[in-house]
Parts: sequence; C-alpha cells; structure tokens
Amino acid sequence: MNEAPPSKADPETAAGAEERQLAEQRALIDRLDAEILERFNARLAAAGRIGELKRRLGLPVRDTRRESQVFRRLLDLNRGGLLANRYMVKLFATLMAAARDVQGAPSRPADGFGTPALFAVFGNPVVHSLSPVMHNAAFGATGFSGVYAAIRVKDIRLAVAGFRSLGLRGASITLPHKEAVMACLDYIDPRARRIKAVNTIVNENGTLKGFNTDWAGALKALEEKIPLAGKRVAVIGAGGAARAVAHGVSSAGGTVVLFNRTAEKGSALAAELGAEFRPLDQFDAERIEILVNTTSVGMAPQAEESPVAREALRAGLVVMDIVYNPLRTRLLRDAEAAGCVTIDGLAMLVHQGALQFELWTGLAAPADIMRMAAEAELKD
Ligand code: ATR
Repeated sequence: MNEAPPSKADPETAAGAEERQLAEQRALIDRLDAEILERFNARLAAAGRIGELKRRLGLPVRDTRRESQVFRRLLDLNRGGLLANRYMVKLFATLMAAARDVQGAPSRPADGFGTPALFAVFGNPVVHSLSPVMHNAAFGATGFSGVYAAIRVKDIRLAVAGFRSLGLRGASITLPHKEAVMACLDYIDPRARRIKAVNTIVNENGTLKGFNTDWAGALKALEEKIPLAGKRVAVIGAGGAARAVAHGVSSAGGTVVLFNRTAEKGSALAAELGAEFRPLDQFDAERIEILVNTTSVGMAPQAEESPVAREALRAGLVVMDIVYNPLRTRLLRDAEAAGCVTIDGLAMLVHQGALQFELWTGLAAPADIMRMAAEAELKD
C-alpha cells in the first residue's frame, strides 16, 4: 500500500511555524521597547532643557495649562489606534511626572515620611465612578502626593470607622450613603445640613468634617455659561441631585421652578425650597431661561429618552444635563438642534470634584485635566 503524502497542515510543521512567528513578534516588541525607551529619554532631555529655560525666564516649572494642552492634543491624535485613552493618559501622566523630577520639581510628599495621603470614594455600586481617574489625574498634575481608590461600601458606619483608624485624608461619598454618613461625622457644614447630604469628608487632624460640593459644582457649571442672578431656572426632578442644584441656583439669586413626574414628591421638595412646582408633563419653557435635568432620563441604555419634548425647547435657552453617560444625551442633542446653549453632565461632576480637591489639598484644582481624564475614561 502507498503511504499517504505528508499533509500540508502537518501539525508539527504548523506549530513550528507559529513558534517562529511568536519569536519574531517578541523580537519586534524588544526592538520597539528599545525605541520607545530612547524616545522617552529624548523627551525627558527636552523637558530638562525647558526646565532650564523656565528657570532663566523666571517661569514656574509646573504649568497645568500647558499640561492640559498636551493632553488635549494627545486625545485628538489618539484616534483609531489600539491604545485606549485611559491607558494613554496614564502613560503620559507618568512621563510628565518624570519630567517634573528632571526639572527639579518632584511630587510633594504628603507627610514627613514620604507616604502618599489616602483618599477614597465610598459608594455602592462604585465600580463606574469617574472620581478615581479625576482625582488621581489632579494629584499627578499638581504634584500632590496622594492616592485615590474606589471602595464599595455596604455599611457606611463601619467604613467611616475604618477611615478614622487608617487616617485617610479625605473621601467622596456617593449613593446611597450621602445622607446616612452625616450621623458618623464630627462636624457638618451648614449648607450640607440644609441640603441633607454630604458628598465630601475632610479629615482635619482627626476631626472628620462633612461638606457638600454638589450644589457649588452645579452653580459653577451653570455660571461658566450664564450668570444666574434674576434668572428663572427649570429644575427637572425631585431627588437629591435636584435639591443640590436648586440650592446652588437660589444661592446665586436665581428662581427655581421645579418640574417632576410625581406631583407628590415634586410639590414636597418645592415647598421645602420655597419654589414653584409644576407637573413634568405640562412642561413649557415660557418665561424660563435655564433648564437643568437632574433625573436619570436619557442615561444609557435608555439613551434615546429625554425628560422634555423637543418642541418645548427654543433658541437662547441654556440647557444643562447632569447625565454624562452618554455625554451628548438626547436632551442635549435636541437642545443643540433648537439653538440652545448646552452644558454636559461632566461639567457639574468635574466642578464638584475640583472643589473637593481644593478642600483636601488647599491647592487650586486643575479642572481641565480632571475633565480630560474623565472624558478619556468615558470615551474608551
Ligand atoms: P437622586 O437622589 O440621584 O437625584 P432619586 O431620588 O431617585 O435620585 O430621584 C430621581 C428623580 O428622577 C425623581 O424625581 C424621579 O421622578 P419621580 O419623583 O416621579 O419618581 C425622576 N425620574 C426618574 N425616572 C424618571 C422618568 N422616567 N421620567 C421622569 N422622571 C423620572
């Protein structure tokens, strides 16, 4: 009997070829790593020369505006490749930290022993929180030696006891603990007490103080586009976010008109705020200058929903959404099409975070960089 000819797909030969390919790809990676390392060092040498020039010109080494321009450009360049933005941002933040060392401005140790200050967000669920990337980017950009982690917390009392014994410097508090945490702290800021929610803990030499930065974050996000004094602002929703936004609006001299699906809940909050209440299904923008959605309507996966009909929007209205996933919600797309000025959901998130950063560190927050870090995370 004739022997069968050797098959083209001889398993040993195929495996041998694949092993050769593996070795080739590894050799390619070794060459690329050497090139990348060389380019990193060239970049650091340029940073060193820039540091020298800055010194001669009397300019500060740390320039968060320039850093945010660098990140903006990188995010624009990094389209279509395999490198996810969140990794790209981390790589370049690390390179920038190395550059500051070369320029003689290393990170400030948080204590005399060089250990970083610890921060966390306590929430449940907390896995999708953008706070860690925002705050870690801010630490990197300002050279503050801090580490910020997301911690899923079931029992807020135990978490705050842990915070005390571990000596955390600060924490963000998110759903569902913003109200319950108040009973665990040594001091509550009067504004947070009025809003009935704490979203920030500051550890001041062992005394735990609770603040609310949501109201001021909303206010900053709005006032970047329009001064609120004397304006009529439609706040849609009657939950905790609505309460914070409404406080921000009234503190700046705006008038709140509260719209909610459920009349009972809406009129109760409106009465507490001293605001006018109207049912959401009767929304119209007559005599309204600003509209803020504080409900979750429009959040993925219900991204095609909007709390108000497109026909109710008109040119000139300022429309802010606190939903940031997706960033361009149906409400904001409708508002743009109607000629409104729009403010996306990252604006309030970033500003409340920037205010937290300032309470914790006493440094000016690099809000641009915080926004870019959050955007990079969202866009991946
Ligand atoms: P938070 O504290 O985060 O603001 P909340 O207390 O659950 O959240 O409040 C959510 C708000 O969004 C409520 O005012 C809710 O309206 P109801 O009072 O009628 O429940 C509003 N909301 C949620 N889903 C909605 C929907 N599909 N249409 C209209 N309003 C909605």
